[in-house]
Amino acid sequence: MHEWTEQTEQLAAAVLAYTQDRLRLRPVPLDGPRTPEELSAEAGATITAEGIGGEEALRIFADVLAPACISIDHPRYFSFVPCAPTPASTLFDLVVGASSIYGGSWMEGAGAVHAENEALRWLADLAGFPPGAGGVFVQGGTLANVSALIAARHAAARAGEGEPREVSREGRRFAVAASAEAHSSVTSAASAMDVDLIGVEPDDSGRLTGVALSEALDRSAAEHPERVPFAVVATAGTTNLGIVDDLAGVAEVARSRALWLHVDGAYGAAALAAPSRRHLFDGIESADSFVVDPHKWLFAPFDCAALVYRDPELGRQAHRQHAAYLEPLRTGDEWSPSDYALHLTRRARGLPFWFSLASYGSDAYSQAVERTLQVADHAAAQVRRSPHLELVSDPMLSVVAFYRTGWSDGQYYDWSSRMLTSGTAFVVPTTHHGRTAIRLCIVNPRSTEEDIDTVLESLAD
Ligand SMILES: Cc1ncc(COP(=O)(O)O)c(C=O)c1O
Repeated sequence: MHEWTEQTEQLAAAVLAYTQDRLRLRPVPLDGPRTPEELSAEAGATITAEGIGGEEALRIFADVLAPACISIDHPRYFSFVPCAPTPASTLFDLVVGASSIYGGSWMEGAGAVHAENEALRWLADLAGFPPGAGGVFVQGGTLANVSALIAARHAAARAGEGEPREVSREGRRFAVAASAEAHSSVTSAASAMDVDLIGVEPDDSGRLTGVALSEALDRSAAEHPERVPFAVVATAGTTNLGIVDDLAGVAEVARSRALWLHVDGAYGAAALAAPSRRHLFDGIESADSFVVDPHKWLFAPFDCAALVYRDPELGRQAHRQHAAYLEPLRTGDEWSPSDYALHLTRRARGLPFWFSLASYGSDAYSQAVERTLQVADHAAAQVRRSPHLELVSDPMLSVVAFYRTGWSDGQYYDWSSRMLTSGTAFVVPTTHHGRTAIRLCIVNPRSTEEDIDTVLESLAD
């Protein structure tokens, strides 16, 4: 099974040919889910004692399984947060797999870690972080958020050690502040960490502001004296509407109250690379950590989220695992990515992003993000022009959400499912303040104004 044989040679040719064909395929099919019964019937038994052979397994994948997966890079895939990897990044994903690299430690993966750190440095520079900043590519924004908050709590706990206040803090509850518009992973992180969540009411435009944060912290202190706030999460591009919080105002409050500021830019911080929107992020340079997912709006394949710390030593102190068998890795102050998040074994998942950034150059990234913003602007303008459509709010980034006036919830869902089954587009409804709406998230530079018009025209009477 591990030998390279004539059969393996043929399999390699078939796999590479499939990969190339898929990458050059235009148009990409939208595809869609099937039932387990249909898939069992068509794929047959795939796991057998003797094996069905690589070429047959590939045939089943190509003919049955892949068409049962919605293509995330389809130009009219507008649901959730799509993913539009560049050809270079996807091709290099194959190279990463073939290169058998362990990306957790400098000792084992120095070359890969060096390249990943170059890409992280580019992101840190976009945010205006200092030269000592650094971090790690993790599986997703969820893991990045929880890892940052664990580091924040660890730093707060260490800061409190030995203080006389410590005794009076018996029964204390660590707490993190975040707005109701923060991503669901922040609630999950608080729950997994068993810390309280201090909810902050966003302003009328959906932004978390410094003033509201201050008030919420004061209220929490009065009503829950046992709570010890240790961090605030601001969002740079909410998932539902693409709203960027008042980062400068929040940063000021965080600084004055000695709170760790984590900026969740999993989706939106890619727009740091877009000169037209850079000003929205003013204040991010004061954060203690931020996340941006290259697998969202920076054209890397799943799964790739960048977590960057202002002071990575605080991340290392919280996350480095200790075990007898791991000690040989600690020969000096070398950079081991496993030390900076809640994980150990890791794929060098930042490499496809690094390769693409190195290949095309950062200007191409700025242009590609700007292009998606142009298409989002077109979508918003078309909605404003249409009497039967109504924007939920003016888009700040590349999420355009709007109501179809006169529609019941059922009509939204029926329309969405017709769009998918006809292979036209993948657009699932969302809600805003309990009201159903259509949400387009545009992160694919191959999505065009015509693609938007196709979707909008289908909403006419
Ligand atoms: C703002 C924000 N934070 C966190 C996440 C979670 O990221 P992931 O799905 O990569 O875990 C998302 C996902 O859409 C997001 O938009």
